[in-house]
This record gives sequence, structure tokens and C-alpha cells, in this order.
Amino acid sequence: MIVGVPKEIKTAENRVAMTPAGVSAFVDNHHEVLVERNAGVGSGISDQAYVEAGAKICDDVKEMWRRADMIIKVKEPLEAEFPLMREGQVIFTYLHLAADRHLTESLMKKKVVGIAYETIQLDDGSLPLLAPMSEVAGRLSIQMGAYCLEAKNGGGGVLLPGVSGVPPAKIVIIGAGIAGASACSVAVGIGARVSILDINFGRLRYIHDIMQGHVSTLMSNPANVEEQVAYADLVIGAVLIPGAKAPKLVTREMLRRMRPGSALVDIAVDQGGCCETTRPTTHTNPTYVEEGVVHYCVANMPGAVPRTSTYALTNATLLYGLELANKGWERAVADNHVLKKGVNVAYGKVMHHGVADAFGLKCESC
Ligand SMILES: NC(=O)c1ccc[n+]([C@@H]2O[C@H](COP(=O)([O-])OP(=O)(O)OC[C@H]3O[C@@H](n4cnc5c(N)ncnc54)[C@H](O)[C@@H]3O)[C@@H](O)[C@H]2O)c1
Repeated sequence: MIVGVPKEIKTAENRVAMTPAGVSAFVDNHHEVLVERNAGVGSGISDQAYVEAGAKICDDVKEMWRRADMIIKVKEPLEAEFPLMREGQVIFTYLHLAADRHLTESLMKKKVVGIAYETIQLDDGSLPLLAPMSEVAGRLSIQMGAYCLEAKNGGGGVLLPGVSGVPPAKIVIIGAGIAGASACSVAVGIGARVSILDINFGRLRYIHDIMQGHVSTLMSNPANVEEQVAYADLVIGAVLIPGAKAPKLVTREMLRRMRPGSALVDIAVDQGGCCETTRPTTHTNPTYVEEGVVHYCVANMPGAVPRTSTYALTNATLLYGLELANKGWERAVADNHVLKKGVNVAYGKVMHHGVADAFGLKCESC
């Protein structure tokens, strides 16, 4: 199979869908890999590194899309890429079609096979190609929280680990899933006092066990959230109700009771955020202050650390991509029901119930 790896064209997207190690794996499996010139530069990967791994560098992106049987990307195709697609071509990337009718209709019109990272689902309900990005966002949230607390950024001038004779900061994490647990491990590692809340007792028990009691675990209810937030230097929002908007657990009133110059990093902003005052921000202008609290609400946090994010993402996507290339998409999804859940559209038909439900369309089965 010929596999194409284009340079991402979405604003400020510096990740790339394949690393040189991924190229080697495809080449070892007798596939040809075409990488667009400079595709990896934003992630610190040179064209030379791809060439040494066995890829061919393409200057002409149109030619690459024309030749490739499968395009592996990071973000959903944008308008400029629609004319480049061709019937039967597999597009393996984040698609988020249920939120985008125009993209869905465009992929259907072009009769491509759209396989979405975010709907590949294991039997326990977890999403293995979304998890690495939650891990990145969770770990990064403490770094960004530290930035918000610096005086020059509007914060109260608190150093998270404290120093001898001055206690460490108090960090409250709401949600103990992938992002929350990742935030927790960094928060504990940096020496902060950490509380974490969830409605899932199993997650709290897990955190309690792995952190060996260095974290206070609490059931999430309005009284506990209110009490914890009031004394927090940094609040991390990391809740998720799959398929729904995030619940507003932190109210404006709660923020008013925090010490001015405290900080809130709402990772759940991509689902609307779990704080009443959350509104999406960007990497170029990531923070704003409301009720005296510095808010960081960037919806694509992994974009701040593209090199780590590229490696984390491609670690997770590689085996699925190889399976698609080795077997062809139809046999690959027939053999692997986890991968099958990734098929969103194929040859003009909607193949995923979530996408069909979103637009009142008929769902065909693979
Ligand atoms: N901003 C970004 O760049 C970025 C990146 C990755 C993920 N995210 C977002 O981060 C959020 C968390 O993702 P995840 O992968 O950790 O999800 P997850 O499903 O692993 O964890 C979510 C946790 O929230 C808990 N929860 C649900 N309702 C709650 C409540 N009322 N109180 C406390 N906890 C509650 C769940 O029990 C679960 O443990 C999602 O909204 C996701 O979209 C954002």
C-alpha cells in the first residue's frame, strides 16, 4: 500500500501523524511511505530523519494525495484538502464528524473511507487513541497552573512546591480519569498538597492506592467541591461525561471565595468546561482573569508540546495504521471489532451510529 503523511494545515497544529520509527515499521511491512516536505518540522523531526527511515519526501502535496491509498493525519481534513481526496481512499485521523455536518457530507461526497481515531473503542469503553492526549493535557495542566500563579501572569505569586518554611500550594483536581490522574501524578511529584474528587469510587480507590496516601481522595458532590475550591491555589477541571457537555461543578460564587490570584486550568473546556466562568482560549492568548482567578482554558492543550504529543499519539495509532495497511481496511475491520468502531463513513455511507444520530442519517453496518 502507498501511505501518505501530509503536513498539517490547521492553524498552529505542529503535530505530525507518523514518526521515523513509524515509517520504518511501514517500510518493513513492504509499504511505501510518502511524507510531505517539512511535515515533521513542528515536532522537531527533519525530512532527513524520514528519508533515513525509508520514506520518500514529497514536494507536491496534490501528487501525494493522488498516489496514496491511505492518508494518515492528525486533524480532520480542511476545506483545502477536500478536492485532493479520491474515491476509496482511506483517511485515518481525528475526524469529530458528529460535530461537523459539512465535513461529514464532504467525506461522503468524495466517497472516501473515514476512520476516526476518536471512535476506536476498547471493550471496556475506553478510547485508546484519545487517552494519550488526555495524559498530555493532564500533565501539562500543572505546568500551566504554575505559569498562571506567577505574578507576571496575573497570579498571586505562589510557587507550587513551596520552600523550606513556606508550605506548598494546594491543588484541587476535579475528575480522576486519565487527565485527572495524570495531573495528580505531576502535582504530587512537584510536592504540592493535592486533593482529587470524582463520582467514581473505583477511580478514587485507584488513585489512593497508587499515590500511597499522598493525596486526599474525595467523593465529588457540591459540598466537597465548594469546600475544596475555597482553599485551593490551583483548581484543575478534568471531568468527562462521555458524549455530553461537562457539568458546571465550580460556580462563579465559589471562585469569589478563592484568594485573589489563584488559578483555574479547565482541561474539560473542549466539552464546555466544568466551571461557570470557563470560555475557550488559544495558545496565543491562553489566560484571562475573572473573579480574581487566572483562567487557562485552551481547548487543544497538546498543541503546546507538539513533539511529546506527536510521539504519544503515534505510539497509539501505529499498530492500527499497520493493520489497515497490511490487510486493507475491509479485512482489517472485519477481523478487529475495536478498529471497526473507528469506521465513520465509507463510499458515501455513514457507518457510525453517533454520526448518523447527530444528523438524522441512516447508519449502514460495515
Ligand atoms: N483541553 C484539552 O486540550 C484536552 C485534551 C485532552 C482531553 N481533554 C478533556 O479532558 C476531559 C477529561 O478527559 P479524560 O480522558 O480524563 O476523561 P476520563 O473519562 O478518563 O475521566 C473523566 C472523569 O470525570 C469523572 N466525572 C464525571 N462526572 C464527575 C463529577 N460530577 N465530579 C467529578 N468527577 C466526575 C468520571 O468519573 C471520570 O473518572 C475531557 O473533557 C476531555 O475532552 C481536553
